[in-house]
Amino acid sequence: MANDMQNPFTLTFGKSPLEPVERPVQTNEIIDTFTAEPVNQQMFLITGVRGSGKTVMMTEISRKLRTRDEWVVIELNPSVDLLQGMLSKLNSNPVCAGIIKSAKIDLSFWGFGVSIEGAAPITDAETAIIAILEKMKKNGKKLLVTIDEVTNNEFMHVFAGSFQIFVRQDLPIFLLATGLYENIDELQNEKNLTFLYRAPKIQMKPLNQQAIIKKYMNIFQIEREQAAQMAELTKGYPFAFQVLGYLTWNNRGNYREVLEEYEQYLSEFVYDKIWSELSRKDRVVARGIAETDSGKIKDIREHLGMETNQFNPYRKRLIKKGILSGEMRGYVYFTLPLFEDYVLEND
Ligand SMILES: Nc1ncnc2c1ncn2[C@@H]1O[C@H](COP(=O)(O)OP(=O)(O)OP(=O)(O)O)[C@@H](O)[C@H]1O
Ligand SMILES: [Mg+2]
Repeated sequence: MANDMQNPFTLTFGKSPLEPVERPVQTNEIIDTFTAEPVNQQMFLITGVRGSGKTVMMTEISRKLRTRDEWVVIELNPSVDLLQGMLSKLNSNPVCAGIIKSAKIDLSFWGFGVSIEGAAPITDAETAIIAILEKMKKNGKKLLVTIDEVTNNEFMHVFAGSFQIFVRQDLPIFLLATGLYENIDELQNEKNLTFLYRAPKIQMKPLNQQAIIKKYMNIFQIEREQAAQMAELTKGYPFAFQVLGYLTWNNRGNYREVLEEYEQYLSEFVYDKIWSELSRKDRVVARGIAETDSGKIKDIREHLGMETNQFNPYRKRLIKKGILSGEMRGYVYFTLPLFEDYVLEND
């Protein structure tokens, strides 16, 4: 923590941290599935609460696949026309541009490449993409498309429809998308997108406690016991790992003095946002959970005056959003560090 060393922690969302805590299980599940022969799964949807590391994990998977010769990776922006965006990204990727050129695929309609003499330019984006993917397949190439923060919009509907056609035609295309649970859920339940309905979802898990301990020990050159206390304070929540590390670094390695600031950062950077995105009734239930010390579902229900069948939908939804853990039967607790205090203070 010498002053001349740069703080290795980051408070910036979406940016891959300098010192990531590895997530081998979930990362490899996706990579192994995508690289398995024969292929039987070409898409994954990553969900999780804000700050749970969706973007960072997606970026890490992209990075790993990019290092392999056969993979081309492009990232699409979900708020503009995805098929057109895809064509333009393919055209500016050196590998794909070479394929487009040598296969004489005429994209001049979109202002890309050159028009091919004697051939009509392709004027339909889906058709153009199929032509490119067919050539990629011949060349032993595979395409990973990543989309960060999907919402249920028209661009996604159109893209999903085309993606289904690509997959049905056995083309080597793979999709990795991230989104908040509620957005992914809405998209999956769109009529006409039954294909998406079956897409596997991966819910972000907390970071491994031992892995966090090792990171903190290494970075701060501290004993296991102190690192374990810090890890405990983060509950494995990735953003909390960064905040606590960041503040501790700036405080010359003393984490005890930064706890108030730690809580404040969590509130202002994420909890305010998470809270504002909950429905009124979700908040009532969350408050009931915070006010019940035992964490026992029965006690919470009694405190709230709710029957099991009334309480269950809220419990389930908060679990799916990644805010609540239901791992212990008959109990629930918040997955986010200090969230209970936050809820109690935010009436
Ligand atoms: N594996 C990891 N190890 C350490 N820190 C991580 C890890 N993954 C994410 N983080 C940190 O957590 C914070 C949030 O990560 P990220 O932006 O990926 O979250 P997100 O789930 O995409 O959030 P949002 O829903 O708001 O987009 C960032 O500061 C990032 O540096
Ligand atoms: Mg993100």
